[in-house]
Amino acid sequence: MRASVLHIVVAAGSGSRFGAEVPKQFCYMGGLPVLMHTVNALRHTGSGEVVIVLSTDMVDYWNTLCEKHGFRSPDIVIGGATRWQSVRNAIVSKGICADIISVHDGARPLLSPNLITRLISEVKSGSHAVIPVMPVTDSIRRVDVNGENVAVDRKSYFAVQTPQVFDGNVLREAYSKTESPLFTDDASVVESIGVKVTLTEGEPTNIKITHPLDLAIAEAILNDIKK
Ligand code: C5P
Repeated sequence: MRASVLHIVVAAGSGSRFGAEVPKQFCYMGGLPVLMHTVNALRHTGSGEVVIVLSTDMVDYWNTLCEKHGFRSPDIVIGGATRWQSVRNAIVSKGICADIISVHDGARPLLSPNLITRLISEVKSGSHAVIPVMPVTDSIRRVDVNGENVAVDRKSYFAVQTPQVFDGNVLREAYSKTESPLFTDDASVVESIGVKVTLTEGEPTNIKITHPLDLAIAEAILNDIKK
């Protein structure tokens, strides 16, 4: 039987580090808002339904953008005060039955169809949680509570990307527990109930737009992909 897949795109954050009037997921890149690129990339795989998570005050603006670009919006879920709450709201309202659930940051518009297909197939093969990671190329230092710093071996560290893909039952169980301030992604949530997280190679182009410069870099990557 074919496994049902739900893609949750979280985009309810205000993106305060970005510093623009409009949240980063609505900024333009190659003629389209960032979030439309993200949704298109997931739809392109034809692997499952996409839902987007927005805050209440974003919905009218998003609908205006969709009308302007003739874009069919995925179903919208209203997010919460934290990323964890936004994901939990989407699971509770749209993810009750999905066999496989992927969670992706709306501000990562350049994921490739190949990456999402690869992650899903690893979960179909029996992994409970699969996440894309990249080796760290900068030198790394750890700073302790006293402000003392020490060099650490960067080969032991990886930068984590999304989409993160899960067995649906595992993700539902993890999100039925209490929120912790240590949860910065979904892998940390499933790990808290004892689930092993499998790492797989991410993509250098799958950047998260956090600062205005990232938007310029993403646009340059997009132009390069189109060549
Ligand atoms: O702040 P950060 O960039 O780590 O947020 C990661 C993703 O989580 C973003 O796509 C953001 O829109 C989303 N988010 C959310 N609800 C929140 C906070 C963040 O959907 N309350």
